[in-house]
Amino acid sequence: MTDASFTTRLKAAADLTEARLARALAAPPLEGERLRPERLLAAMRHGSLDGGKRLRPFLVLESAALFGIAPNAAATAAAAIECVHCYSLVHDDLPAMDNDLLRRGRPTVHAAYGEATGILAGDALLTLAFDLLAGEDAHPDPGVRIELVRVLARAAGLGGMAGGQMLDLTAEGRFADGVPLALALTEIRDLQAMKTGALLAAAVNMGGLLGGADTAQREALAIYGRALGAAFQIADDILDLEGTQEAVGKAVGKDAEAGKATVVAALGRDAAGELLATLVAEAETALSPFGARGTVLAEAARFVAERKS
Ligand code: IPE
Ligand code: IPE
Ligand code: MG
Ligand code: MG
Ligand code: MG
Repeated sequence: MTDASFTTRLKAAADLTEARLARALAAPPLEGERLRPERLLAAMRHGSLDGGKRLRPFLVLESAALFGIAPNAAATAAAAIECVHCYSLVHDDLPAMDNDLLRRGRPTVHAAYGEATGILAGDALLTLAFDLLAGEDAHPDPGVRIELVRVLARAAGLGGMAGGQMLDLTAEGRFADGVPLALALTEIRDLQAMKTGALLAAAVNMGGLLGGADTAQREALAIYGRALGAAFQIADDILDLEGTQEAVGKAVGKDAEAGKATVVAALGRDAAGELLATLVAEAETALSPFGARGTVLAEAARFVAERKS
């Protein structure tokens, strides 16, 4: 069962993120912009507002809160990582990628606005993330802002999310004869650590940066973030197998048919569940240096494993 205070804090993070994103996606052009095309703005809003668990922003806020940072002071960085996440979903759903029509309980961006607009909405959400991080709102110290940019860029790019998506599609056999590759478990874990884990780990890392974590604290957060990230994708793969479209707000039962390289496919459902439990325990243990302050993040690790959406 999910703790009531966790649920309240996740909701608060979602509300704060929504407000920041809505502000960033307002109609008036900013300094340096000429105009904001209505159709592109509408597609970006469709892909980022009013939906999603907002788990990555929550992790930024709660990791920063370990060091006494108030939610408002971490909200811009939280909104920035959600922009990258939303862009990744918009592009993940494109016909050339996973070809999905339902996301967060509504039509995917390309289903609503067409493929070209979907591609551009993703592009513009990605760049918006770095615009947000460049501003003084993100952190008063420009050195910290540069670190935030670097952490998010590394997690999103070639050796992170985008690279992981490349491996994911490659594993389907798309660039060979269409026959899915038989990846070893370690290869699947690398793929998942990149496509999904990198951004979740970056959220925690960014919270530590905002909080001025020392080396040992950053290492503890990194271990937590990696375990949580791995657990998150295994839970997503289990939901694809066992969840309902109504509950998860996206199509289910597609991974096996597509030949996706998943831990569930490699190990079977039961062993995947055992690995999930091990990862949650690993995440909880990593928080021990933070004592009672780590309770909310520990609850988050359990939520990730037990969630139904
Ligand atoms: C879905 O992420 C995509 C994966 C990385 C598996 P979420 O499950 O966090 O999606 P939202 O943001 O809640 O819609
Ligand atoms: C997507 O993994 C990870 C991303 C980088 C978006 P999935 O393809 O399994 O995510 P869902 O199931 O469509 O949300
Ligand atoms: Mg995918
Ligand atoms: Mg997908
Ligand atoms: Mg999935």
